[in-house]
Amino acid sequence: MEELKKLAAKEALRYIDDDMIIGLGTGSTTAYFIQMLGKKLMTEELEDVYGIPTSHQSRLLALESGIPVVTLDEVDAIDIAVDGADEVDPHLNLIKGRGAALTMEKIIEYRAGTFIVLVDESKLVEYLGQRVPVPIEVIPAAWRAIKEELEVFNATAELRMGVKKDGPVITDNGNFILDAKFIKIEDPLDMEIELNNIPGVVENGIFADIADIILVGTKEGVKKLER
Ligand code: A5P
Repeated sequence: MEELKKLAAKEALRYIDDDMIIGLGTGSTTAYFIQMLGKKLMTEELEDVYGIPTSHQSRLLALESGIPVVTLDEVDAIDIAVDGADEVDPHLNLIKGRGAALTMEKIIEYRAGTFIVLVDESKLVEYLGQRVPVPIEVIPAAWRAIKEELEVFNATAELRMGVKKDGPVITDNGNFILDAKFIKIEDPLDMEIELNNIPGVVENGIFADIADIILVGTKEGVKKLER
């Protein structure tokens, strides 16, 4: 699987030119892209490229890889954003947020001229919610109320707990994550809006109608899905 992720990451480099501002996603697939982009800058195959990281993780990796980073308030526009996903449906709607960075990811990817998603073929699903729950970033004091509220949508939500930490996972923004399992998400755009309407929800991991290009690493090579 790692080889398929690398294939997709390498393909994404073909979209990057000199003088671009690039949104840098979070996660294991994007990590390959960030490292490869760093190498292109080191060898001067690319020049004057700046990254806008979507998390502490991608910021640290970008700096380590030699990519100069800027913040959202320092730039007028983002040329391209590159990120992974946990599920991709046939209409290019996504579920993201296994890495708990969904809020900053959505802010940056929404603003990018082109949003490129890198996945291996295991992430392609028939409908959203098929394999993974929807991560929802919530204000800590509201987590239990929101968990109950989600029952209206027939969703069962769990507070995400740390693996290398006792207690709940804390996001880069100081919030909690609820992982909400839906039976089936029929209308991703509608559900994305509905979830964000619940008071205390900061953002949710449904990314409907936002991806422009999906690069899928498959055993037969990279497949490109496009709107
Ligand atoms: C981070 O919060 C996520 O949105 C990731 O982009 C997503 O979970 C994909 O991660 P992997 O590339 O590690 O599968």
